[in-house]
Formats: sequence, structure tokens, C-alpha cells
Amino acid sequence: MSELSVNHLLGIKYLKEKDIQLIFETADHFKEVINRSIKKVPSLRDITIANVFFENSTRTKLSFELAEKRLSADVINFSAGQSSVKKGETLVDTVNNILSMKVDMVVMRHPNPGAGIFLSKHVKAAIVNAGDGAHEHPTQALLDSYSIREKLGDVAGKNVVIVGDILHSRVALSNIFALKLQGANVKVCGPKTLIPKYIESLGVEVETDLRKALNWCDVANMLRIQNERLDISYFPTTREYTQQFGVNKKLLESLDKEIVIMHPGPINRGVEITSDVADSKQSIILNQVENGVAIRMAVIYLLASKIK
Ligand code: CP
Repeated sequence: MSELSVNHLLGIKYLKEKDIQLIFETADHFKEVINRSIKKVPSLRDITIANVFFENSTRTKLSFELAEKRLSADVINFSAGQSSVKKGETLVDTVNNILSMKVDMVVMRHPNPGAGIFLSKHVKAAIVNAGDGAHEHPTQALLDSYSIREKLGDVAGKNVVIVGDILHSRVALSNIFALKLQGANVKVCGPKTLIPKYIESLGVEVETDLRKALNWCDVANMLRIQNERLDISYFPTTREYTQQFGVNKKLLESLDKEIVIMHPGPINRGVEITSDVADSKQSIILNQVENGVAIRMAVIYLLASKIK
């Protein structure tokens, strides 16, 4: 397979396993490129990409921009806070105005689930979902699986536990789709109030005892509590959450085996993981960030090759 089965990256749900393998093989090539002294390739010299962010971001926004520049694309950045959205302009009008400046691809983060899907039906450009509310964050899941593959050789057959606020997490849903598609075994662990009722229909088991979950897994992906999406209290206090679902060095060292620790960022140090876990040799958190650039180069390159 030499091209993606999709014209947009709206969610992992719409990908086939072969798409993921193609993205990984392409990312392998780009990872080699970005470790050279000349980190840039001229592949997308004739492509213009708009990064349209209606929600805060550090890693994803910088990583996409760097990936686009490494591919020699022309890049424009849009942040809702400083735009005419504040004057009441609609999403479609905003993006169509950007597209009339001859933009080929839109990378969008939006607080509303399905915003990218909606946009792909109303504008003529390739759309990349950079996180849509509590729905999906496909490039995060791709870079997470790519980092597991890099660390453990393969994703298939590995035991992965996703810990924390599963209910509000786009990272959790995209990771579940990606990991299941590649043949990993997936459990989720967190307060019952933060585990969606439909979770088992995704082929995922629930484990509410963190120690049992960690002793089962090869990889623990520790999620942040999505405070910005919590309308009510889902657990008594942050301190009690940390006591039950936080990972510290003592717990990590008391396990039956050495596991890999992941986190999509931003980290709440001392809540979901302590600093000595985040910065330990078992943590691949910064490898995830590094791999994000190669994965996003691969996604953009493969989608752009379909619009040329
Ligand atoms: N992982 C992630 O999406 O981080 P940002 O919100 O900083 O982009």
C-alpha cells in the first residue's frame, strides 16, 4: 500500500491497520531526516497549510508547525483568541476565508467533538484533526503507538493500560482505536465515574485497582484530569485521586516487572505522576514529543500526496 485510504485525518476510527503501518514506515524515514544536520526536505514546497487552533495547545501546535516547515510547506497560523471569531464569524466562514488565500490543508483543534468531520464536508481542503473536544486526537495516538513500537519492537500483543480520566479524554479514545487495530490488549483504570459506560463495547477491560493494572501491563499511559471539561466533581479531592490512581516511584519499584510510562502532556506533576516517575528512565514522555514531529510529517506528506 503506497497511499492512505482516507483524504482527511479526522480520527483513528476511520483508518485501517495498513494506514497506520504506512504512516509508521513514512515516519521512520522522516525521523532519520530530522536527525540529520540538514533537517529539511523540499517535498511540500508547493503546499500551503493553515494551523487553525480554537483551543490551547503547546506540543501539538508546535509539533505540526515544525513538521510542516521541515517538509518546506508554506505555513500560516490562526488562533481564535486574536481572530474575527470573537466578532461572531462562523467556523465555515472563517475557514473558507482562510482557504480563499489558496490554502491546501487545514490542521484544526476545536473544543467541539466532530468539528473536523463537519469542516471536511463543507470546505475543499484536506483536514487534519488536531484534537476535537473529548472525541479524538489521532496524531497523538499515532505518535503514542509509534513510541511503543520503537521502545518494545511491536504494538501487537502488548498489554497497555490507560489510566485516569477516560470519560473526557480524546487521547484515550484515539489510543484505544489505534491499539486495538494493531492487536494490543487494552485495559483502562480510573475512578468508575470517569470510565464511560460503553467502554467494554470497544473491546477494552476495566480495572479499578491501579496496582493490579500496572502489574498486568507492559505500558501505562497516564492521563491528565481534564479539569476544563469537568462540569461536576467526579472524585472527592485531587489528593484522594492521587492516592488511588497516581503513580509514584515507590509504587513503580514495587511492581513485579519494569513497565514503560507514557503521558501525552501537559503533565500535572504530583497528581497523575510524580516528578521522579516523569523523569525516570522508564518514562518515554520526551520520546513521544520527539516522535510527534516525524509522525506529523508523515501524516501531512501522505495526505498532501493525495491532493497534488
Ligand atoms: N498532548 C497534547 O495534545 O498537548 P497540547 O494540548 O499541549 O497540544
